[in-house]
Amino acid sequence: MTTTDLSTLSLFSATPEQIAEARRRTHNEWGKGLTLEEHLARYAGEDHLEGSRDGRFKTWVLAPRNDPHTLHFKCACETFKRTGLLVKNKAAESVTCYGIASVFTPPENRGQGFARHMMRLLHWVIADEALLPSSGFPAVWGAPPPKVEGARNGRFSALWSDVGQLYNSCGPAPDREGWVTQGTATTVWEVEASPLFETTAPDWTWLDDAGVSALWEEDAEKIRSEMENSEHPGTSFAFLPNRGVASYQHRRLAIYFQRLATPPQTWGVASPDRSAYATWTIDPRHVPITLTVSRIRTDPQSFRDLVGKLLEVARKHDVKRVEMWNLPSELELLAGTLGATNYSRDLDHLPSFKIYGPESEAEMSWAFNERFCWC
Ligand SMILES: CC(C)(COP(=O)(O)OP(=O)(O)OC[C@H]1O[C@@H](n2cnc3c(N)ncnc32)[C@H](O)[C@@H]1OP(=O)(O)O)[C@@H](O)C(=O)NCCC(=O)NCCS
Repeated sequence: MTTTDLSTLSLFSATPEQIAEARRRTHNEWGKGLTLEEHLARYAGEDHLEGSRDGRFKTWVLAPRNDPHTLHFKCACETFKRTGLLVKNKAAESVTCYGIASVFTPPENRGQGFARHMMRLLHWVIADEALLPSSGFPAVWGAPPPKVEGARNGRFSALWSDVGQLYNSCGPAPDREGWVTQGTATTVWEVEASPLFETTAPDWTWLDDAGVSALWEEDAEKIRSEMENSEHPGTSFAFLPNRGVASYQHRRLAIYFQRLATPPQTWGVASPDRSAYATWTIDPRHVPITLTVSRIRTDPQSFRDLVGKLLEVARKHDVKRVEMWNLPSELELLAGTLGATNYSRDLDHLPSFKIYGPESEAEMSWAFNERFCWC
């Protein structure tokens, strides 16, 4: 194996042909149960989802500087531009932020440092350039990646690592830290073993796709107000669930739902006054089939009713597990009394973030670190 001088490579916004090639490459990994054509069609559908439109969904490739359009690029990844909140001293600022997905090096290129280098460079294309290290782009990596219209404006970025702490070693300079994992708490109900809660909440409303979209608009406002009024003294940040962010969780799986005898139609449930609610996705590919709560908001009094509703919808669709991420601690304790197991995920989807600016990751708190923002 020859060693590539990493400074001869740079990160480029993928051409349409490179996007197609990047998607073809991931078929075996992420297209399980789909033909290549179906895998590509599913991706084409993602291009039109609300959270992807207007250039918000981008593919990036690590390629030779002297051949940036080659289809033999080393590796690729994707980003979703989003709106988030940064809250300091109870004042919330709306900021541009990024969700990162589909980091992929083809097997023949693995183990040569390409993914790590691509991710180090990624900061330099998505972060607000005024907020990156003042020492500038590391000379040892050559010239900075070209500026791409509509990018270089991020205040923070996040990814959900399936490969442990690889991304922590991907900082914007050799001596800088990369993405830092925070919030791996997981609460799970095994549906068949869970007690059948009596329905004490007959007036709750089931929400379809339009219903949850309307709910996430209200939810975004509640997230802002809750963060501004929080007694937490430090600096916190959050993604917002509206504008196609939370809906991505179920809409991206549409092709799998079409194959089910009874495709799920409801993606949320809300109490009569809409003060308590949960939204979810169901992944039919997951073994065991799992309902993952994308967003939950409730006080302890309504939690039992809400869990009852979630188990009800789970049983209706033959779901075996119900999973929630980073419940507030009092609900986590309560969940334990309602048959759930609480544990820390150490392998899958580890939420990891990078803040761009004067703050350090250690002082930042990721608020509403739930499934809705995963990508
Ligand atoms: C994970 C992946 C992107 C790594 O690509 P790569 O170009 O071989 O990575 P690098 O050569 O830059 O390796 C960087 C480090 O990550 C480590 N690493 C690679 N794959 C890993 C894995 N699956 N789990 C944990 N660590 C891993 C390497 O050991 C290396 O660490 P080291 O330098 O301390 O030895 C590649 O294996 C891949 O595409 N896998 C399938 C898709 C996938 O899982 N993507 C990640 C989704 S979050």
